[in-house]
Amino acid sequence: MSWVISIKTKPIIKPISISYNKLSYDDIDSIVFIEHQNSQNPWSKTQLAESILNPTNLCYSLSINSQILGFLMVMPAFDTADILNISINAEFQRKGHGKRLLYYLIQELKNTKIRELILEVRASNQAAISFYLKYGFEEISLRKNYYINNSKHPNQKEDGIIMRLKF
Ligand SMILES: CC(C)(COP(=O)(O)OP(=O)(O)OC[C@H]1O[C@@H](n2cnc3c(N)ncnc32)[C@H](O)[C@@H]1OP(=O)(O)O)[C@@H](O)C(=O)NCCC(=O)NCCS
Repeated sequence: MSWVISIKTKPIIKPISISYNKLSYDDIDSIVFIEHQNSQNPWSKTQLAESILNPTNLCYSLSINSQILGFLMVMPAFDTADILNISINAEFQRKGHGKRLLYYLIQELKNTKIRELILEVRASNQAAISFYLKYGFEEISLRKNYYINNSKHPNQKEDGIIMRLKF
């Protein structure tokens, strides 16, 4: 007689842990990596570092299992805050991480007198424009030929779209 013993095992599901942290200079290499991955006109390491170290700015990262996958930089001014930069690691986009960072920022800002976010985006950056519209931003004005380096047509300028979210 032969016995067949079957042991049912549960699949191992590794829990994911999402965390939000204030950026520090120690994060600079992760930030530079994401910035250069995503932009044809990336901020330099110096510009990113200056923004992180500027005490006026609010700069946050989103990490999964301690790996930084995205960041957000904001400059508050009275009751408004300007989004200076937001970027999610290209391999992890369209999974809700941009929304999570944005909502985390809004929760933080609700503890202050700031009640609106303003930003400027290249007219060619359809992914970002779609992202902002999806999460409630509206287009409020256009700056003709604002950007010196056109992402798609070198030697031409590019319009900037100003968007605003009231919350
Ligand atoms: C803009 C950005 C931060 C969005 O982050 P994200 O994590 O991908 O966004 P979410 O997953 O939270 O939201 C997804 C929504 O954003 C928009 N979106 C994101 N990537 C898109 C793409 N490649 N094409 C079109 N829409 C896109 C869509 O509205 C999408 O919703 P859908 O999937 O239902 O169509 C990310 O695309 C990014 O890092 N882009 C490069 C840097 C950049 O351009 N920053 C903005 C400078 S102003």
